[in-house]
Amino acid sequence: MSQSQIAISAEGVERRFGDLRAVDGVSLEVKASEIYGFLGPNGAGKSTLTRILCTLLTPSAGRATVAGYDVASQPGEVRLRAGVALQEAALDDKQTGAEMLALQGRFYGLTAKATKARVDQLTKLVDIGSALDRRIGTYSGGMKRRLDLALALVHDPQVLFLDEPTTGLDPVSRAKVWQEVRRLNQELGMTVFLTTQYLEEADELADRVGIINKGKLVAEGTPAQLKRTIGTDVVIVTVTGDATDAGRALESLELVERVEVNGPTLTLSVIDGPSAISPIAVALAQVPDTQVMELSLRRPSLDDVFLSVTGEHITDPSAFMASASAAQNLQEPQ
Ligand SMILES: Nc1ncnc2c1ncn2[C@@H]1O[C@H](COP(=O)(O)OP(=O)(O)OP(=O)(O)O)[C@@H](O)[C@H]1O
Ligand SMILES: [Mg+2]
Repeated sequence: MSQSQIAISAEGVERRFGDLRAVDGVSLEVKASEIYGFLGPNGAGKSTLTRILCTLLTPSAGRATVAGYDVASQPGEVRLRAGVALQEAALDDKQTGAEMLALQGRFYGLTAKATKARVDQLTKLVDIGSALDRRIGTYSGGMKRRLDLALALVHDPQVLFLDEPTTGLDPVSRAKVWQEVRRLNQELGMTVFLTTQYLEEADELADRVGIINKGKLVAEGTPAQLKRTIGTDVVIVTVTGDATDAGRALESLELVERVEVNGPTLTLSVIDGPSAISPIAVALAQVPDTQVMELSLRRPSLDDVFLSVTGEHITDPSAFMASASAAQNLQEPQ
């Protein structure tokens, strides 16, 4: 890949806070015009790496470039080409949204006229109507997030960093942000590095996904590739009472690769879901004092990938629901 095709590169990037390695040797490359989804649980190191790439935090070791410029030695060049909407937006409550947008434009050296034209374009995205002329202190969380996204776009960056852009947004606003991210990517070729805890968001938007856990990149690929690495279908069984005995009975079945017991619920990794259902049902019928309440089959989802590489489900409850609905939409082989 030629240098100009690489929008973001990290080589062995580390960031320590005292003894803690918040980012622990991450290497990745994001191509120009790609949407890269950076997925991980709370405290995984997503925001820390994002801040390093945006020049807001220096790496303790390793090297990173954005738009071809080194984040440590050429931060000014990086800032001109990168837009960033951080997880905790740094907005001045005393200013109005319109004032902040204008200030941002001036900060990047745009003329008043250019800034006004840009702000007019962005108002559609901000979509907070007359509130743009109100003090930011009176905005809701969702309004602040949308304003922050608009601020990141004022100077028309080549690379856009979004740290959990839709956390706290209602479903309609979330869909709007997705649409805008897609538009920026497709129409302007903007490269997007997006951290998220929502599996559905990564699945929907990202060309490629990296999964970070405890500071380390533990998996990377297109959503379809990642799901294929799981290789198995998943059967979920809920029984009356405790499922330990049922779990033991199923462990010996040929098509069952792995059994996880969680209270009354069994999660089975199976080689061929449709063929495994009958033997599973037969085996369960023979377990004393155990009745099956529910049995379902689903194809691999990003949450299963997440479970396999981190040993736990992603913690966000709405992500669970999102992954369940995404799994339903992914019935066809990828
Ligand atoms: N300035 C700091 N000083 C000390 N520790 C920090 C600092 N910033 C982050 N950390 C720690 O580094 C680790 C990674 O934090 P980070 O904010 O990057 O996680 P995250 O993946 O963004 O999590 P979340 O999903 O909750 O936003 C955490 O253990 C956090 O407590
Ligand atoms: Mg974070």
